[in-house]
Amino acid sequence: MKPIRKAVFPVAGLGTRLLPATKTMPKEMLTVVDRPLIQYAVDEAREAGIEQLIFVTGRGKSSLVDYFDMSFELEATMEKAGKSLDPLSASRADFGEIVSVRQQQPLGLGHAVWCARHIVGDEPFAILLPDDLMVGKPGALRQMVDAYARLGGNIVGAMEVPADRTSSYGIITPGARDGAVTEVTGLVEKPAPAEAPSNLAVVGRYILQPEVMAILSSKERGAGGEIQLTDAMAKLIGRQPFHALTAEAVRHDCGDRAGFVLANLAIALGRDDLRPVIEDYLATR
Ligand code: UTP
Repeated sequence: MKPIRKAVFPVAGLGTRLLPATKTMPKEMLTVVDRPLIQYAVDEAREAGIEQLIFVTGRGKSSLVDYFDMSFELEATMEKAGKSLDPLSASRADFGEIVSVRQQQPLGLGHAVWCARHIVGDEPFAILLPDDLMVGKPGALRQMVDAYARLGGNIVGAMEVPADRTSSYGIITPGARDGAVTEVTGLVEKPAPAEAPSNLAVVGRYILQPEVMAILSSKERGAGGEIQLTDAMAKLIGRQPFHALTAEAVRHDCGDRAGFVLANLAIALGRDDLRPVIEDYLATR
């Protein structure tokens, strides 16, 4: 079985739900406490053993790639002033670790992934949507990579959602369940609650076989007129093993206003240096 070495980060979406914040700033550069969303996703990928980070960017998204560059002037100035460079260490990419490719038009998540096809090549790969901030120990992708070592094939991250929220997610038709692992026998994008096969939703973590790229190349439009990753994945079911893993992790939907605020609160409350200040503030409300 080939190891998972590459991860695609589709970051070319418009982020309209967070306007005006995302008018000139990529959604993935918005900060949760003291680091941008993309940093959390990259840390999670590195922890899972990913060696190559593939950013699918669009116009106005170059700051995502720049963020992982060396900041010569900043570092030289800080060093001269005797300041520690530790806060910068995770934001420095190793030489050649990051590759970026453009999605010239935001035609959908499936299309964004397909734009990375030449870089992914002929090996299984991971996908991380940075606006789905997953907090887990080990990280959600690490848990999925471990499951992949046992199961092979395709694995999506999954989570149960309230029955009236199915129209915001890709929804799974569940087969046999074994602990946190559920066999996937069908997938449908954004079904109305009455048509949803379950309330088990796909979250923004995937391990997929490269054959999905050939399916995506047909550029079929799905829900919302977009080229949907869910539709392409659905075509792999029955041809290759396909499972969902409900990782032990908390998901924060940072593409949504309330989810973004809650993520900040949850991460801050998890930090010893910030918790007392926030608890004091909340106690006085
Ligand atoms: P979303 O559904 O959150 O869309 O995309 P969006 O455009 O980012 O945000 P809203 O809905 O307008 O507020 C899920 C993920 O897929 C990427 C996004 O960047 C995000 O990581 N994506 C989506 C692309 O890279 N390209 C696309 O064409 C669409």
